[in-house]
Parts: sequence; C-alpha cells; structure tokens
Amino acid sequence: MTPPILFDNHGRPLNYLRLAVTDRCNLRCFYCMPEGGIRYLKKAELLSNEEMVRIVSILAGMGISKVRITGGEPFVRHDLMQLVRTIVEIDGITNLHITSNGVLMAQHVKELKALGIASVNLSLDTLDAGRSKSITRRDEFAKTWHTLQLLIENKIPVKLNAVVMEDKNIEDIIPMIELTRNQNISVRFIEEMPFNGEGSHYPRLNWTYKKILDYISSAFPTIEKITDPQNTTAYHYQVPGFKGNVGIIAAFSRTFCGSCNRIRITAQGNLKTCLYDEGVLDIKRLIRAGKSDEVIKGELLNAFLNRSVDGIEAEAARKKSLPVMESMSTIGG
Ligand code: 5AD
Ligand code: SF4
Repeated sequence: MTPPILFDNHGRPLNYLRLAVTDRCNLRCFYCMPEGGIRYLKKAELLSNEEMVRIVSILAGMGISKVRITGGEPFVRHDLMQLVRTIVEIDGITNLHITSNGVLMAQHVKELKALGIASVNLSLDTLDAGRSKSITRRDEFAKTWHTLQLLIENKIPVKLNAVVMEDKNIEDIIPMIELTRNQNISVRFIEEMPFNGEGSHYPRLNWTYKKILDYISSAFPTIEKITDPQNTTAYHYQVPGFKGNVGIIAAFSRTFCGSCNRIRITAQGNLKTCLYDEGVLDIKRLIRAGKSDEVIKGELLNAFLNRSVDGIEAEAARKKSLPVMESMSTIGG
C-alpha cells in the first residue's frame, strides 16, 4: 500500500510527529525550567502508553511516518522502553527518533540499536562539567558524556543540541565544533526561545543565528554551507575535512516555517500544530470520552487544515496573555 500523504491548509506535507511523553525531568536547564516551584502534571493527566500508541496509530494511518519521542526527559518514564518497542512495530512508522539529556539512557543503548532507532538527539550545551552543573543545575555531565560514547560506538546517528546562552556557554562553541573533526556527528547550536516556564530571559535575543554564524566563521574561516536535508530546521555547515557537521537553528527567529512538516503532542495530550501555539486540540479528552478512531481522525484533520502560516501568526493567535510562560519540558523540544 502506498502511504497516505497529509497536507495542511498551506500545502505543506505533514509527516513528522513530536511526542512529549512526560513533563518531568531529572535536570533543570536554565533555558527550559525554573529552578524550583515546578508543578508537575499528575500521572492521570499524562497520556498512558496505550493512549499514545492509539494516537500514533491513527496518525500513521493519516500520513505520519516519523516520530520523535521527547519530553521533559523521556527516560524518567519507567515504561518508556515498552512504548519504544510498540511504536517501532506500528504500520507506517518508518523512523523513530529520541531526544534525551542522556543521563538515564546508557543502559538502553544496545536495545535501542537492536530496535532500529533512527537517531538520538542529545541535549548537551557544554563540554565542561562545571559549566554543565551551572546550566542544568545538576551534576550529571559524566553520564551524558558516557551515553554519547556508547551511541557513537553502537553507530547510532547522533546530534548534539546546544542552546547558545550569553555568559553561559559561548566558550563551548568552538570546542564543540572540534568534536566534528573526527566524529561523524552533527552539532547544532540553537537560538534560545522564551520557553523556560518564566517568560523571556532577555529583552532582545543577542545570540541570533546570524551572530552565532559570524562567531563560528571567525574561528573557522573555511567553514562551508552544505546542502540542508529536506524539512530541517537547521542551516548546515561543515569545516572542510571534518567528518561531522554543524547546524544552526533559528528557533527564535523562525526562518523555517515555510517548510514545516511537524506536529506536536504535549505531555498532557494536547495537539500543537506549531511550537508557538497554545494547543489546538485536546486529544486526551476525545480519547477519554470514548470517541472512535474516525471521530478523532476528523478532529485531527480539522486542526491540520487550520494551521497558522508561521510561528509569528501562531504566537499572535494565543488567547493567554504574552509573554509566553510555557516550559519546553511540557511542549516537547
Ligand atoms: N530554547 C531553545 N531550545 C530549547 N530546548 C529546551 N528549551 C529551550 C529553549 N528555551 C531544547 C534543548 C533540548 C530540546 C529538548 O529542546 O536543546 O535539546
Ligand atoms: Fe530537562 Fe531537557 Fe528541559 Fe534540560 S532541556 S530541563 S534536560 S527537559
């Protein structure tokens, strides 16, 4: 059977689901969560594995073929590996990816490889244990580093995600690019977005992708633009002769919306058709009200056909007042 193709109201194909499996995390990254006073969702408010599998199956039947499991930190969920084992078996899901901070992942790397995981994105903002402690407010750098080594050994494609933060990790940019000299990994520098659960850190974002690129270019003057894979949010570069590559993600400037192929499901079971919207469909409510697959499918399609054209429009359409007070840990990276 040829897989179905799903389009939104702007003619963009949708084939990629980012599924946040929890809002909990074992770290407290500065850009993602406040240090304290976090009100986690109760277990009953989270989607169960069965509910997630049902949603993914419905979406797979509509044209979603790629799933990224994200969070919070996915591995704080004790039944995560069971979910992974089930999702890789769903008809139509051809690529399963995970975004993780890597702290609890090492023991699962072998099985993830055996299950055919397509890639892992590791959140790693610095190569220095002390700076890591100050950014993540926890002392877990060694575990993430160990996981990275295991992923490389097991030949699982790896991307490192580093959020670029004034006064916090600028000195890590060049050493992180150095990692791509001998390793075929992708190191991606991300503009900081105002999703730390507290509103924006800055009146104006200083480290924009343009500034990040200028900074990198002055250290690596021969760095070249390389072809970007389809639908990517990153601009890709490579230092000639290096095995890996470098990406810059204009997450705040939102330059990539025109080719956006992704939808999100939050930890509490809300559909987001844009990172910057406030949730456009409560899928959990439909499921728990006993709605049929056909009804849920109809509601999903309706949401896909009412998508904002870009993140600026989606943000402006939010009913709750600005600034955005969400945390990335509930949205799903
Ligand atoms: N700005 C940019 N990226 C963020 N992430 C989390 N919070 C933010 C933010 N405020 C990214 C981290 C992590 C992924 C889950 O989301 O890099 O890798
Ligand atoms: Fe946890 Fe990831 Fe948020 Fe850091 S960015 S606090 S690792 S969910």
